[in-house]
Amino acid sequence: MDRRVFLHESARNLAAAGLIFGTPATFASATNSTTLARQQCETTAGGTKFAVATVHELATNAARDMFRVGGNAVDAAVAASFMLSVVDGHNSGIGGGCFALIRDPSGRFYAIDGREEAGAAATKDMFLKNGQPQPEWSQTGPLAPGVPGQVAALENMATRFGRLSWRSLLEPAIQTAQNGFVMGRLANVIRANAKDLGRFASSKRVLFPGDELPTATTRLHQPDLAQTLQLIANEGAAAFYHGPIAQAIAEYLGAEGGILTVNDFANYQVKQREPLVSHYRGRQVIGFPPPSSGGIHVAQMLGMLECFDLRALWRRDPILVYHLWLEVMQRAMADRAHWLGDADHARVPLGLLDPAYLLQRAGDIQLGRTSKVAGHGLPPGVESQFFGDKHTTHLTAADQEGWVVAITQTVNTSFGCKMIAPGTGIVLNNEMDDFSIAPGVANAFGLVGTEANAIAPGKRPLSSMSPTIVLDGAGRPVLTCGAAGGPRIITCTLQTICRVLDFDQSIQEALDSPRVHHQWRPSEAVVEERMDPASIAGLQTLGHEVRRIEASATAQGISWSADGRLEAAADSRAGGVAFVE
Ligand code: DON
Repeated sequence: MDRRVFLHESARNLAAAGLIFGTPATFASATNSTTLARQQCETTAGGTKFAVATVHELATNAARDMFRVGGNAVDAAVAASFMLSVVDGHNSGIGGGCFALIRDPSGRFYAIDGREEAGAAATKDMFLKNGQPQPEWSQTGPLAPGVPGQVAALENMATRFGRLSWRSLLEPAIQTAQNGFVMGRLANVIRANAKDLGRFASSKRVLFPGDELPTATTRLHQPDLAQTLQLIANEGAAAFYHGPIAQAIAEYLGAEGGILTVNDFANYQVKQREPLVSHYRGRQVIGFPPPSSGGIHVAQMLGMLECFDLRALWRRDPILVYHLWLEVMQRAMADRAHWLGDADHARVPLGLLDPAYLLQRAGDIQLGRTSKVAGHGLPPGVESQFFGDKHTTHLTAADQEGWVVAITQTVNTSFGCKMIAPGTGIVLNNEMDDFSIAPGVANAFGLVGTEANAIAPGKRPLSSMSPTIVLDGAGRPVLTCGAAGGPRIITCTLQTICRVLDFDQSIQEALDSPRVHHQWRPSEAVVEERMDPASIAGLQTLGHEVRRIEASATAQGISWSADGRLEAAADSRAGGVAFVE
């Protein structure tokens, strides 16, 4: 077929050809012998007992070891998560936060919110000086962290759902912190951030062994972190929130000009959220609700895409699918900028998921050219527009009993605020930058926001982290995925779901394929360099302002075949490791 003809075919012709459908599906409102795939890109042979995928081999090994001594997927995920604090601290760790989405064997879902929280002394204009935004304050230094939620969330899920002892889950991480490990890629990240890290003596002490910049072969020992983890192993999360660890962090930040206090730590609570359930072509998609924006926007985009016969379009011309993805991304991300924030503090309209609203938002999408999206939509139920390769990581584990765990965890950008609390080894987050520090001012990811995501005491910053689990019509898991990459998490999750469900790709193929991204502002189509030049040219012909980047997001996932076999995949972009048995 001559693509040039097709690209200019009118929507009416496509409708006649059956490539555009009518309405999106309705949304349910929120309810209730072993193969180690050592190589990036290497697909795991299917297994039946368990599966895990993380961004680091030692974390995957820790999870595998928990399975082998009788733990379930929750035990495995918690052990992997603690290990990531040790071996992958620039991305996530106990000084940061997470969202965990869990399915139990009876088919119930739990959305555990361990997101960081603004301290009691936080103010809306704390990152303004003479009215001017100071993004460097929200990104680096003592004002940037929120109260970390990671340890509380891990304890919550381990004690409710795990089978092994809390101490045993921390043991591999403690050993690795104490005995050291070869840095590998981590050394590059430290070198890339050396200037900012070097501003803080305690960070230098930990990350520049022998006072020198590390190389890939340097061994990193973290005795302070080992001691901190041992304290948490012995005394539980209370040691972090009510004991010496909170004290050490608050004292350090206070002395440097920060505002978090021991009371902020003592008041921190994990929040149990209602998982967000939507439907896509007969499947149920379970996502994470606010303060994540991911669940809502993945559901919005899938809802808009349901107007189109994506499978047929893919066969006919993949450029059209990339184009459609970019179009729905723009619309969803414009809504994000305006409407989304922590729903405990801002009114996030449920109408954002109304099928008629999504149909209206998708109504001006054309297959023959890109459209300019002027701004957010006005979902039903809202009277006026106003209501009075960086960092993070996704890990996932599943087992034969039916447990499925998807955790996205982060300290935000590389090494968070770049400060390690002395004596603790803890890398402190800079999640305050995920708030909108002033209307229209872009954060580290170029994201803008408004009042809904303004800073307030005790409020959690809006996140893009999107742990997702997809079920078939009978309620059996078919896919779980999630990613790192700021707003690219949301768009990567969308593409992974479409590739597996609509194009029948394996989870590994889906993760390794080229990704596109659009976040409305800036108005540009971000395209990975691995995409073939003809497709990039095709998108430009359709009017997209293309910016090429090396990699967009880092994802991990597990899929289930019809006969229940598990396949796990780690993203080739970050050299993660998947394992099934
Ligand atoms: O919660 C969020 O949306 C961000 N803090 C995530 C940051 C991230 O993914 C960085 N990775 N490249």
